[in-house]
Amino acid sequence: MMEFDSIDSYKNKIKRILITEEEIQTEVKRAAKIIDDIYDGTPILLVSILKGAFVFMADVCKYVTVPTELSFMMAKSYFEGTVSSGKVEITMDIKQDVSKYHVVILEDIVDTGRTLSEVVKLLKVRNPKSFRVITLLDKPSRRTVDFKADVSLFTIPDHFVIGYGLDCGEYYRNLPYIAEFDSSEM
Ligand code: IMP
Ligand code: MG
Repeated sequence: MMEFDSIDSYKNKIKRILITEEEIQTEVKRAAKIIDDIYDGTPILLVSILKGAFVFMADVCKYVTVPTELSFMMAKSYFEGTVSSGKVEITMDIKQDVSKYHVVILEDIVDTGRTLSEVVKLLKVRNPKSFRVITLLDKPSRRTVDFKADVSLFTIPDHFVIGYGLDCGEYYRNLPYIAEFDSSEM
């Protein structure tokens, strides 16, 4: 857990807002429209990867109008400070028989690409009827594994970001916008 000397030291880590609440909401609605257009009344299974994508999932699902089931997986990528160590562990799996579903994965960010490569590998062998990945954020400059989402809503430079589900040391997930994290003195 991170420790802060004061509320100011907590707030000062929020360096600057990169994507506003309004900008996110516009893209969230566009993502829901893309889903509606592709599936055109066909039922889907929306899967989000906890914890980072829980806010994105909650927002997107409200605007999707095709019949939708929701499910959650948990993947843990190990971080040393703000740098991914490269290890990914799937700590909670979905219960559904994937072969009966058109699956749409909602993810918060594609960084090195390792988490989604692992998740996709795991789900594809179960033969879903179809399979797509939508990510809120994409940091292509950090990719170490060849992975491309079907839809990326925002492409961002190589900054460590917080808010809208994304954390640093488990804090800041509840910010309604995406901000750059100030990693000086870490
Ligand atoms: P990957 O490197 O593509 O496997 O991304 C792994 C996970 O690391 C993502 O799903 C996020 O939860 C987290 N992550 C990657 N970049 C950031 C960031 O800038 N801020 C907060 N979390 C991040
Ligand atoms: Mg994540």
